[in-house]
Amino acid sequence: MAILEFRGKKLTDAKEIKSVLETYGIPYECWGVRTMADSSVEGVLRTYDQDIKRLKAERDYVTEDVIALDPSTPNLDVLLAKFSDEHHHTDDEVRFTVAGEGVFEINVTADERVKFTAEPGDLIVVPAWRRHLFYLTTKKTIRCIRLFKDKSGWEALYPYAQEGSAERTLHFT
Ligand SMILES: [Fe+2]
Repeated sequence: MAILEFRGKKLTDAKEIKSVLETYGIPYECWGVRTMADSSVEGVLRTYDQDIKRLKAERDYVTEDVIALDPSTPNLDVLLAKFSDEHHHTDDEVRFTVAGEGVFEINVTADERVKFTAEPGDLIVVPAWRRHLFYLTTKKTIRCIRLFKDKSGWEALYPYAQEGSAERTLHFT
């Protein structure tokens, strides 16, 4: 289950995490870990089919896929470097973690972030245009379901690079 670090607190209770994130317009749901008949892409999507359909209807997503990153992924460090700098997208970044873990640092105000560690069973939506960054934990492994309104909106945009080290003063603890 997820961990949320914010203003010196470390939350692990799903209801508390949901409440804090909702305050800042960040949807979070605990879908839980389910037994899968098979671990293929189709098997994963089938296992979470009802929640996927519901979320698509609620938030106008039209397509989904499954992505996996682990140390065997070609150019893993290059891929990850794209997302460890602050950026945003013009589409929501929707991630349901099936396996592994990853960390999102998401702006909630101009100078504050939350640090959200996604673990198996967690669904999070980084809203479109919201400043954030993402990296893997030392396990360097994650498998996620992604939902999209428009895959072209998934390109990362980096309007924050000019701010240099100033952006590193943002804090979540
Ligand atoms: Fe992103």
